[in-house]
Amino acid sequence: MDCESEVGWGSNVNIMDMSNEVTPLRLPTFRSVRTRDNRYPPGSRVRYPGQFMVELARNPLAMMMAMKLEHGDIAHWKIGPQPIYLFSHPDLIRDVLVTNGKNFHKSRGLERAKRLLGNGLLTSEGEFHLRQRRLAQPAFHKQRIASYATTMSDYAARTSARWTDGQHVDMHIEMMRLTLGVVARTLFDADVEAEAGEIGEALTTAFESFNFAMLPFTEYLDRLPLPSVRRFNAAKATLDRAIYRIVDERRASGEDRGDLLSMLLMATDTEGDGTGMSDLQLRDEALTIFLAGHETTANALTWTWYLLSQHPDVERKLHDEVDRVLSARAPTYEDMLSLTYTRMVFAESMRLYPPAWGIGRRALEAFDARGYTIPKRAVVLMCPYIVQRDARFFPDPERFDPERWTPEAQASRPKFSYFPFGGGNRICIGEQFAWMEGVLLIAQLSQKWKMRLDPSARVEIQPLITLRPRNGMPMILEKRDERLAR
Ligand code: HEM
Repeated sequence: MDCESEVGWGSNVNIMDMSNEVTPLRLPTFRSVRTRDNRYPPGSRVRYPGQFMVELARNPLAMMMAMKLEHGDIAHWKIGPQPIYLFSHPDLIRDVLVTNGKNFHKSRGLERAKRLLGNGLLTSEGEFHLRQRRLAQPAFHKQRIASYATTMSDYAARTSARWTDGQHVDMHIEMMRLTLGVVARTLFDADVEAEAGEIGEALTTAFESFNFAMLPFTEYLDRLPLPSVRRFNAAKATLDRAIYRIVDERRASGEDRGDLLSMLLMATDTEGDGTGMSDLQLRDEALTIFLAGHETTANALTWTWYLLSQHPDVERKLHDEVDRVLSARAPTYEDMLSLTYTRMVFAESMRLYPPAWGIGRRALEAFDARGYTIPKRAVVLMCPYIVQRDARFFPDPERFDPERWTPEAQASRPKFSYFPFGGGNRICIGEQFAWMEGVLLIAQLSQKWKMRLDPSARVEIQPLITLRPRNGMPMILEKRDERLAR
């Protein structure tokens, strides 16, 4: 039998970001349920029918944060017949992603992503996923990634040359444009400068419909002529056009340029059945990498510039390092080893604002978690945003402090207390690419520029499929005194 209690822990709690002046999350309230049947962990019930669906659509992160605060490391709730569990401890997360990784598939929150991305690396499963991952992997090997460094630095230098002192910019748009250019040039040897604005808008539209897609029954709504469905379809068509143009141009040229696109075009799976990829599969893989490869990094960089603008002491230390290591020249792959503080800044930024803020899985079979039986087909959610702000692993968690990333400090924490790139067999294929890009772009741009937050900015997180700034990131560019940058 359940016993229920009304709890007042939720409403408008200002638990986050007070120091950073990001608008705090407004946490919803539910009815807390403690069951006497110890097979089930503590959980919550709705205060009115459909409340979970409404809260998930409104702000899934606030809903999960409320659950964690009330119930601890394992919380559960139900939407219709679907049991959902939120795991918020590194050991539990390791068990799902690594130890028992084979017992899980991606959760249905990715259904809408499938409508956009088809059956690409991010959304496919099982043997097929393994084969596709094997085919794409060489483009992400260490040596290959090293060869992308010059392009990354060049693209950052081009952005820097375009900027003027005192210019007002939306830093989120600037970073999206920059990282889109980098991924298109390094992996597809393509120039998307002219389409960058259109692609950015299409992405925003497509991502805004993902939260909605986490709810049950939305696949039926897709068949109705709703404005949101029309917008999504138009966005998809824009992205398809961009990707097919790149693929068609390469096919027509017949060249092997040694990049990811050539690898995909010429791929035959020698360890598997020896076949290559269909045109549709090629489109799915290319679009997946194209999107996964720039949106996340752009968000990480945007939040980094924001945090630096709020912490002049950290900014000064960063400037000292880039000035000392680079002496006003462009950063190279070899500089990565010396740009240690730059990397620490990037790591700390992704702790507070992990671009992939939530990761979901569906259990193929029932399993045990701390003595509770989690049933077959349960959805398990893991939230880097929540775990990475847990004071047990990161004391004074709201504080932006790159010193947490010295090798000693890192070694003192459990592995999955920080997992911005996921883990196990579905770990981000672009992790090394992203670290290098983040460090090189920060180093290149901060040699010349300080980014100041526009005083009128209202900074708010928007947890879509990635963690974006809801109102963009209005900033003012301030040229650094070049005599000091020597
Ligand atoms: C800061 C930047 C990035 C972050 C935070 C990030 C985060 C993640 C996370 C958390 C996952 C795992 C999702 C899951 O387990 O459900 C993932 C998967 C993936 N990421 Fe990234 N990513 C970043 C950059 C990149 C880049 C640069 C690329 C490619 C150029 C990329 C391509 C992919 C792909 C293809 C997958 C699916 C891998 C698979 O399932 O086999 N990501 N990413």
